[in-house]
Amino acid sequence: MISDKLQKALNGQIAAELWSSNLYLQMSFFLKHEGWDGSACWMAHQAEEERGHALKMAGYLLSRGGAANIQATDAVPQDWGSVLEIFEHTYEHECKVSSMINSIVALAIEEKDYAAENFLRGFVDEQVEEEETASAIVDRLRKAGEAGLLFVDAELGKRK
Ligand code: FEO
Repeated sequence: MISDKLQKALNGQIAAELWSSNLYLQMSFFLKHEGWDGSACWMAHQAEEERGHALKMAGYLLSRGGAANIQATDAVPQDWGSVLEIFEHTYEHECKVSSMINSIVALAIEEKDYAAENFLRGFVDEQVEEEETASAIVDRLRKAGEAGLLFVDAELGKRK
């Protein structure tokens, strides 16, 4: 049985993952509207991935006898100045998520819930990947500049 404290923290993280999903979906809509179809496709996949994280956490909570719930989430930003700005925002957001996950891991250790710690460590690894991916895209976009944007956009559209 999972502790009330961890249950609360996990439900908070579920809300954060769903907010991330909404953020990336809004980015996808915005990018599509601006004609950046490849980047829009990449973001749509990212939105699905975040929803998957929320579902995985809810499934875990339920498997440990806890209650999963969906909390109200704040509205997400609606527009950005450029494709680069969107991916910079993505990178900053993922760094924030990493620190949230780290806090829950610390709580699991404090509660001596090593099963939850094990489960959450998967997300620690996931965050390393998420930060690296977003940072690499930012780097590519900076190097490409205006002239190479179409090429990078086409590359991002290959995400499956
Ligand atoms: Fe689920 Fe990108 O953190």
